[in-house]
Amino acid sequence: MSASRPAAVIVLAAGEGTRMKSRTPKVLHELCGRSMVGHVLAAARELDPERLIVVVGHGRDQVIDHLKQVEPDAIPVVQERQGGTGHAVRMVFEQLGALPGTVIVTNGDHPLLRGATLAEMVHAHEDQGNAATVLSTDIPDPTGYGRIVRDATDAVTAIVEHRDASAEQHAIHEINVGMYAFDGELLGAALGRITTDNAKGEEYLTDVMGILRGDGHRVGAYKAADWVETQGVNDRVQLAQARRQLNERLLLRHMRSGVSVIDPNTTWVDADVTMEPDAVLHPNTQLHGRTHIEAGAEVGPNVTLTDTTVGADAQVSYAVCDSADIGPNTSVGPFAYLRPGTRLAEGAKAGTYVEMKNAVVGEGAKVPHLTYVGDADIGPGANIGAGTIFANYDGVAKHHTNVGSSAFVGSNSVLVAPVEVGDGAYTAAGSTVVKDVPPGAIGIARGRQRNVEDWVERRRAGTASAAAARRAGAGESAAGGEDSAKGDE
Ligand code: UD1
Ligand code: CA
Repeated sequence: MSASRPAAVIVLAAGEGTRMKSRTPKVLHELCGRSMVGHVLAAARELDPERLIVVVGHGRDQVIDHLKQVEPDAIPVVQERQGGTGHAVRMVFEQLGALPGTVIVTNGDHPLLRGATLAEMVHAHEDQGNAATVLSTDIPDPTGYGRIVRDATDAVTAIVEHRDASAEQHAIHEINVGMYAFDGELLGAALGRITTDNAKGEEYLTDVMGILRGDGHRVGAYKAADWVETQGVNDRVQLAQARRQLNERLLLRHMRSGVSVIDPNTTWVDADVTMEPDAVLHPNTQLHGRTHIEAGAEVGPNVTLTDTTVGADAQVSYAVCDSADIGPNTSVGPFAYLRPGTRLAEGAKAGTYVEMKNAVVGEGAKVPHLTYVGDADIGPGANIGAGTIFANYDGVAKHHTNVGSSAFVGSNSVLVAPVEVGDGAYTAAGSTVVKDVPPGAIGIARGRQRNVEDWVERRRAGTASAAAARRAGAGESAAGGEDSAKGDE
């Protein structure tokens, strides 16, 4: 049932959206990682129109900039003053000329509407040979919407706005969703005949239905089965509701394709997130941008990922990751922060209280606890002891650190970049490493330990410590030497 290629989709996005009470134009408010107009454009794209036209007005600079990023092929048409939806479409014809063929018009503030529903409307339009077809739906509370008026034979005769409707018409629950398919030539001619003779003093696009019908053309309505997806957004309450609806739709799609979502109520995914079967999302997981989760990976609880890839069978819990590439069979968290440029190869670990930035961690290398890794390459099989700091910043510039294959960095080391710990090399616990450590060597850079025998007995006499020391036999040995340091070498 594929319809012919539409001549154009016109998205109306010039209105201010006063009820959002925002500096941001209404259609730029986001849900599930995309602007409202971005969702509408994505649905419009599915129809493969020859031209994708967006009418802009309020906040037009911001809206045009945004269009350049998300839909560079979209043609912006400026509506200087917001003279109504009919006026908006008239501006398109004035600025771009005739549009012969099927023309679809959609409001820009209906982010839930699916491309498939638009396609069904276009199909019905062409199938019935209509001059105009409106997308309608039966809605429990029709307050505020335009009503679909039908005659005794059930044929659509007009759309009447709520403010202009009679008491009898107010009882109609079939409403105009705000999406239409038109014969482009008839639409162009009818726009010039719309008056502003109505409650708002605006040119209503909806009047085209009555005009074409009066001329003896067929006009119709295609009724959408699911009124939820037809809902518009006028304020932030409706925006939050739409976000929840869209999130639920996305999660259902992922679950049906094999992803386990343990708690859909606390799991949020953006529209462009992709996941493979047998991925598992635990409660309080948020996946943003172009995040991708591979088969068998377990993400959550309490994880926020942005533009991050998680490899097969990896485990990520209590973590925040941005633009990270987490390889297969890796382990991240609990309580890890992976920043842009972090790449964990297969089987690597970024454990508890670990922060990484611009760091490449080789296969099977482990960074288990309390560590900052910035601007570094860590070789395969290396082990980074608890409390290690990669000191990458000298106050002016950032420098790089290399840790070789199967190297062992002792706990509480500071690796002062630029520096290199060679393949198979060690650093002693507590070292501040400022010079390269050659392969196979140990770098020791710390004070030596000196034990002063019986110091407690002499200087802390009468304390619990002194009593404990005596019970342990302190002071009984003949050895009076002060130095009994455990050697490093
Ligand atoms: C419109 C319909 C109404 C329908 C409802 C569905 C008309 C006259 N009425 O009413 O039948 O039930 O949508 O939500 O069309 N816009 C412009 N330029 C303008 C005015 C509006 O681009 O001069 C854009 C807005 O940005 C918005 C869309 O057109 O995206 C709809 O405008 P809005 O004022 O919200 O129309 P409604 O009163 O909701
Ligand atoms: Ca509206």
